[in-house]
Amino acid sequence: MNIRVLPLPEESRKQKYTDETQLGFGKIFTDRMFIAEWKSGQGWVDARIEPYAPFSLDPACLVLHYAQEIFEGLKAYKWKDGTIALFRPEMNARRFNLSADRICMPEVPEELFLSGIEELVRLERDWIPSSAGTSLYIRPTMIAVEPVLGVKPSDHFYFYVILSPVGAYYAGGFNPVKIMVEDKYVRAVPGGTGEAKTGGNYASSLKAGLEAKKKGFDQVLWLDGVERRYIEEVGAMNMFFAYGNRIVTAPLDGSILNGITRNSVLSLASDLGFTVDERKTDIATILADIRSGSITEAFGSGTAAVITPVGALCFKDENCQIGNGGVGNLTQKLYDTLTGIQTGSIPDRFGWVKKL
Ligand code: PLP
Ligand code: COI
Repeated sequence: MNIRVLPLPEESRKQKYTDETQLGFGKIFTDRMFIAEWKSGQGWVDARIEPYAPFSLDPACLVLHYAQEIFEGLKAYKWKDGTIALFRPEMNARRFNLSADRICMPEVPEELFLSGIEELVRLERDWIPSSAGTSLYIRPTMIAVEPVLGVKPSDHFYFYVILSPVGAYYAGGFNPVKIMVEDKYVRAVPGGTGEAKTGGNYASSLKAGLEAKKKGFDQVLWLDGVERRYIEEVGAMNMFFAYGNRIVTAPLDGSILNGITRNSVLSLASDLGFTVDERKTDIATILADIRSGSITEAFGSGTAAVITPVGALCFKDENCQIGNGGVGNLTQKLYDTLTGIQTGSIPDRFGWVKKL
C-alpha cells in the first residue's frame, strides 16, 4: 500500500531533547506518526505519515468504553557507524495479529505493519539517541473508533505508530529490582486474554502494581490465576531463574505474553552453553531454592526492560534476597550479548537485526 507523507509544518517541529541520559521511558514523542484506517467493506485505506498530534475521537467510540485495543513494543537503535537497526520486527508483526484475532480486530498485513514502521523511523532518524542504554521505542497500536454503545467489534479502526526516544524503563537503570509476588489479585486465566498484548491486561494490573509500590517494590510477579501457585510473569517482563548453568522460565501456556526478548534469551542462553528449561514452577519451590542458594540469579526480560536483574522476591511479607542481591554473571552476560547484537558491537549470528 502506498504511504502518503504529509508535510511537517514548522510549528509541528518540536524542540529535541538535549541530554540523552535524562530521557526516562516514554515521556517524549517525535514529530511525526504513522496512521492507516480500516473500514468495514473497504479494508485498510489511507496509510499516511503526518505530524504527531492529538486525535479527535467521538466520546462514544468503542475503545473508550469496551477497551477494544492492542499494542506492540519494539526498538530502533543507532549504531556507532550510523546504521539504523530494528530488532526482530517481524515477530512483533506476528504477535500483533495474534492479539488482533483475540480481540476481534482486523489483521494488519505484515507488509503494512513493517513498511509503516520503517518509513516512519527513517523520517525520524534524527530522534534516535545513541548513548549506551538508549534507543527509539516504537509503539504500534490499534484502536476501535466506531461511535456506538452496543458491545460488538468495531467497524472502523485506526492502526497507528508513535515513536519515543527512551533510556532505561526502571528509574534505577541496569540495577537489581525488588519484586513482590502477588497473592491477592490475578492477571490472567487460561482462556482469557493474558497472551494478547491488549490494554485491558495492563489496566487490571494497576491496583496490584500500586500496592506493591507503596510497600517499596518495583513490580509484581504474577502467579497462575487458577491454583495461585505457579510463577507466570512480571508486569512488563518475562521472568527467569538461574540454577547455576540451568535457567528456568514459565512455559507459554496461553496466559503469559510470548515475549520476543524471552525467545531471544532462550536462544542466547543455549548458544552460550546454558540449559534452558520451560517449566511450570511452584512459588514454594522457588522460595525454597532461593533460601538454599540453588537459585543463583534471577532476571526479567522485555523490550522496555531489556534484561533486568532481580535482587529480591517478597512473598507474604517474607523477603528473599537472591544470591548476593546484586547483578549475577549470567544476567550481565545476557545483557551484554543481547544489547551488543542490538547495537551492532557483536555480530548477529541469529539473523535478528533488520538494518534500515
Ligand atoms: N510480559 C508482559 C506483560 C509485557 O508487557 C512484556 C513487554 O512487552 C513482556 C512480557 C516482554 O515481551 P517482549 O520481550 O516481547 O517485549
Ligand atoms: C514493552 O516492553 O514493549 C512493553 O510493552 C512494556 C510496557 C508495558 C512498557
